[in-house]
Amino acid sequence: MFKKFAAGAIVSAALLATPAFAACDSGEMVIKFSHVTAETGHPKGEAAAAIAKRINEEMDGTACMEVFANSTLFDDNKVMEALLLGDVQVAAPSLSKFESFTKKYRVFDLPFLFPNMDAVNNFTQGPVGKDLLNAINDKGYVGLGYIYNGLKHFSADRPLIKPSDAEGLKFRVQTSDVAVAMIEAMGASAQKLAFSEVYGALQTGVVDGQENTWSNIYSKKFFEVQDGVTVTNHQLLTYLAITSKEWLDSLDPEVRDQFLTIFNEEVVAANAKATALNEQARENIVAAGGVVRELTPEQRQVWVDTMRPVWDQFKDDIGQDVIDAAVAAGE
Ligand code: SIN
Repeated sequence: MFKKFAAGAIVSAALLATPAFAACDSGEMVIKFSHVTAETGHPKGEAAAAIAKRINEEMDGTACMEVFANSTLFDDNKVMEALLLGDVQVAAPSLSKFESFTKKYRVFDLPFLFPNMDAVNNFTQGPVGKDLLNAINDKGYVGLGYIYNGLKHFSADRPLIKPSDAEGLKFRVQTSDVAVAMIEAMGASAQKLAFSEVYGALQTGVVDGQENTWSNIYSKKFFEVQDGVTVTNHQLLTYLAITSKEWLDSLDPEVRDQFLTIFNEEVVAANAKATALNEQARENIVAAGGVVRELTPEQRQVWVDTMRPVWDQFKDDIGQDVIDAAVAAGE
């Protein structure tokens, strides 16, 4: 049975954070999963909750998982170090946040590369995508799998119909140099900010716009402090679920197998629901009075033509073979 959280039961006082899902009895190995998004109505939040539920039911007495959502434990920069220190065992930062570990993941950020999530699935589940899971093994991490979110859209404090409407504006981006180049191609400037700082930065005018998926724009209320969202589907947001090699290697083989089996099964199940969750979030934005602007195919093509040259800047870091495999996945 899925056990309820007993307030403060085993949370380290030093960390002063409360897990959304906890189920740990004394003697059980605690697996902390730290992430930055909402717990419900969100592809990553729901994936984490489903994994925790299965572990807490099926590994009861051996292991338990606590989920810390909404950046309550670590943000995406700090969590990488926390994994190696053993302060947390699982995280799932977006692939845009691995710049300082590998340049290979830049492929996932190339604008207008993946036409839809089927293409993303073809790529991540194919040989090249599976190989990329290992791109940061030499830094002490193990890629557990890809947790999907969806394609991103632009919002700003004014209507965006053409890329040139963004000229002179400042956009928040993740810690991704591809995203910076993409914004600069629009004649705008980019500021890298942690996810937890985006709402405040939009509200106070530190930045004028942002780009994200429906589930993030809705759950973090970005639409409330923007003029509207333009449906661009310009770039992917997907997560790499990771753990530390040291922790994974330390597990008894049967425990490790059970953990990995549950993890993989729940990621597959969660990924099948990601697009529907994003569509629901889009409907929620409209129902809450948010403005959503569609582009005609001709208008969208201007965005594609503006951003497509960015690929050339990064092709040597990524490898033309990897880009070709990603393009083929969408054909
Ligand atoms: C996330 O979805 O985990 C955060 C993405 C962002 O930083 O925009």
